[in-house]
Amino acid sequence: MPTKLIRSAGSFVLRRDTAIRAHGGAEPAARLLRRYFRKATGFPLPSAEAGTIVLTLDPGMTGLGEEGYSLLVSTHAVLLRAPHPAGLLHGVQSLRQLLATEGGPHLPCVDIRDVPVFPWRGAMLDVARHFMPIGFVRRFVDLLALHKLNVLHLHLTDDQGWRMPIERYPRLTDIGALRTESMIGPSGSPLFDGTPHGGAYTRAELEGLVAYAAELGVTVMPEIEMPGHARAALAAYPELGNFPSRELPVWTSWGVSDALFGVQDRTFDFLQDVLTEVMEVFPSPRIHIGGDECPTVEWRTSPTAAVRIAAEGLSGADALHGWFLRRVGDFLLDHGRQPVCWDDGDLSAGLPPQAAVMIWRDPAHGLSALRRGHEVIMAPFRSTYLDYPQSAEPEEPQGQPDGVVTLHDVYHHQPVPPEWDDRYRAGVLGTQAQLWTEFAPRPRDVEYLAFPRLCALAETSWRGNNDWSGFPARLVRHEQLLSALSVHYRPVGAFSAI
Ligand code: ACM
Repeated sequence: MPTKLIRSAGSFVLRRDTAIRAHGGAEPAARLLRRYFRKATGFPLPSAEAGTIVLTLDPGMTGLGEEGYSLLVSTHAVLLRAPHPAGLLHGVQSLRQLLATEGGPHLPCVDIRDVPVFPWRGAMLDVARHFMPIGFVRRFVDLLALHKLNVLHLHLTDDQGWRMPIERYPRLTDIGALRTESMIGPSGSPLFDGTPHGGAYTRAELEGLVAYAAELGVTVMPEIEMPGHARAALAAYPELGNFPSRELPVWTSWGVSDALFGVQDRTFDFLQDVLTEVMEVFPSPRIHIGGDECPTVEWRTSPTAAVRIAAEGLSGADALHGWFLRRVGDFLLDHGRQPVCWDDGDLSAGLPPQAAVMIWRDPAHGLSALRRGHEVIMAPFRSTYLDYPQSAEPEEPQGQPDGVVTLHDVYHHQPVPPEWDDRYRAGVLGTQAQLWTEFAPRPRDVEYLAFPRLCALAETSWRGNNDWSGFPARLVRHEQLLSALSVHYRPVGAFSAI
């Protein structure tokens, strides 16, 4: 649902000879529109000066920000205008949505003016717990763009797998991308499937993904996890850990492992080399360096950690958590990128204030981070973790235990809780959904978790409004578009009323 929509009678009918006219700078959006509409209608939609679908980049337009657009569909013309390219791309997605509403080559007549409230609207995809083929990741980017979500946060490394090749460290993917088997059921389960699992992208695939996403207006933010969630890297290079002579396999369990990166210079040299290559592949202004779930038990017994604590004048092993992230975060800042960290433990003494913090626990942690001067991205688990089942019905597939995140929960998520002082609003970049994949081994499982809950997050993060009335009916219509794209979504009202 756009910010402002006026529907009038009639429709614009696409024909075999309908053409597109794109003015200076609007050509990439025109190419995208042509791609979608050719596929849907079979019409060629060439470029022509006399075209009746007109796309215009007009930097003089005001009040539309970086991503807003205006779209006028009348019976004889379509006029899409925006001050910036991102707005045109969103307008193209609105046209794609409109084309699906009536069936046949008709666009209903509308007058739309549409501006998002939050600049960060995204989804995290965990390709470490289960590797997802690049073709699916590209398809997922297209589904994000369809919903005007503008960030894919790609969780590339974890205890259970390392998915990005790094030229200087071939064992990361030769060893770290493969595990012998996977746990069946939640953390602590005694059952394993006995089936090897692995996969890694090529650099060309990742570069291609970034370029494809850029055409759709989506930024791919990579995440390299540290200091915890690092067992795949430690399996490949044990000397990076706290006990260099210990051999740890790539983890086959779910949960939180005690194994962390060590704090020796060699480990930081490694991380800098990795992040240098990450920055080459991913132009994203922000790079995620993990930071969550960092039990410090190994640092309490490691002689190297003791030397580091003394040399840096730290209060103890717990303080190494923030110190570690600051050291790596400063490296990114020196290279012109903003580090992003999960909010966890007590990082208040560590992180550079320029780091953005991703709030995954209770929203109140967001306010503490804002008070310390950080920008925040709100991703609280109770409303944005789509790896929780979407209902308590017995038919629901296995998900993260001990919780349910319903469509309603996601729709009512407020990235800026109403009790927060208004002066903190500007520091909230926005919000994103989390698709952890311990219990989602296949692309179709991810789609089932994502849709329709991601539609709810997309609508509210764009509109900044949680008025549920009308949403279920819109969603039922939207299901037709999801079906046309063969998305494996959970139908509204499956198993039980929503
Ligand atoms: C997290 O769920 N550990 C970020």
